[in-house]
Amino acid sequence: MYDLGMKILGIETSCDETAASVVEDGKKVLSNVIASQIDLHKLTGGVVPEVAAREHLLKIIPVIDEALKDANCTFDDIDALAVTKGPGLISSLIIGTQAASTISTLKNIPLIPIQHIMGHIYSNWLEVEEKIQFPVLVLTVSGGHNELVLVKGHDDVELIGESRDDAAGEAFDKVARILGLSYPGGPAISKLAEKGDPNAINFPKAYLEKGSLDFSFSGLKTAVLTESKSNPEKADIAASFQEAVVQVLSDKLLMAREKHPEVKEVHLAGGVSANTRLREVCKEKLGSIRFPRQTIFCTDNAAMIAAAGFYMNKSSAKIQNITPSTSFLFFP
Ligand code: KG4
Ligand code: ZN
Repeated sequence: MYDLGMKILGIETSCDETAASVVEDGKKVLSNVIASQIDLHKLTGGVVPEVAAREHLLKIIPVIDEALKDANCTFDDIDALAVTKGPGLISSLIIGTQAASTISTLKNIPLIPIQHIMGHIYSNWLEVEEKIQFPVLVLTVSGGHNELVLVKGHDDVELIGESRDDAAGEAFDKVARILGLSYPGGPAISKLAEKGDPNAINFPKAYLEKGSLDFSFSGLKTAVLTESKSNPEKADIAASFQEAVVQVLSDKLLMAREKHPEVKEVHLAGGVSANTRLREVCKEKLGSIRFPRQTIFCTDNAAMIAAAGFYMNKSSAKIQNITPSTSFLFFP
């Protein structure tokens, strides 16, 4: 780990956000610039990889410039770069890793590759003064991934559960499409759900084999599709769907904590951790739980990548040319 006052420039382009951020000592966010492509992807109801990659290419340099400017920095003040290596959309990842590799070489700044889910895990470290106690149990819930992770130390991470098919966020996005709501589905569904009855429809909740900490949401998505053909009450469908997802996620999180009594903290991370109902139910079932300090740290951002870079860096950080990877392995 670095000495105090260490500034890391994070870069993230794994899906549809072009992001750059300067973070000091793994927690103090000096800038956090995110160029969202949401308006572009609303036109197609989801992300078209080639369209996303072209947009990253247009935005990456201005976004990095803005992140440095907002943090009152130049490249000379940056001690290391951290970039998302994967998993994600390969054509999008290429833009971020190439930009970071080029800066690393030209400016002589060490570059640290970050696995995207590790980035989400460190979103709970941002802007937090108190010391986070290991082991930490983290539920990461996003559009592209859904995991239960036991973080025993900065270089000791164990995957204890994961989605077998659609991730929770993906289910929100697909159900939103079925209900004719806009992309991304999560915020649209949770807004509509406020007007509906969460107990109106008893949607299937896949708990899988006894004791399993894995997730499956594809059956639920199909059940929503079937229900929507005969039931015009969209708000009830949205509320009941959200409730089914929230109950399964929170029950599995509780089950994981019971299986691992050594756990000192429980964290929620990823885009779906912005969901108010999920936060509420997790608090009810688990008592103490930590969420990212700002909603903007839940969805994809580069501050979390910079924070992960701070904790995951070994003294071997060096000038590098990083190639993207779609691997889910935690330590690329
Ligand atoms: O972490 P993220 O930005 O990207 C991935 O790494 O996949 O997560 C995006 C996902 C989308 O599927 C979006 O619908 C979902 O997070 N999301 C939400 C909410 N805000 C974003 N899902 C439920 N409730 C929300 N409030
Ligand atoms: Zn993500």
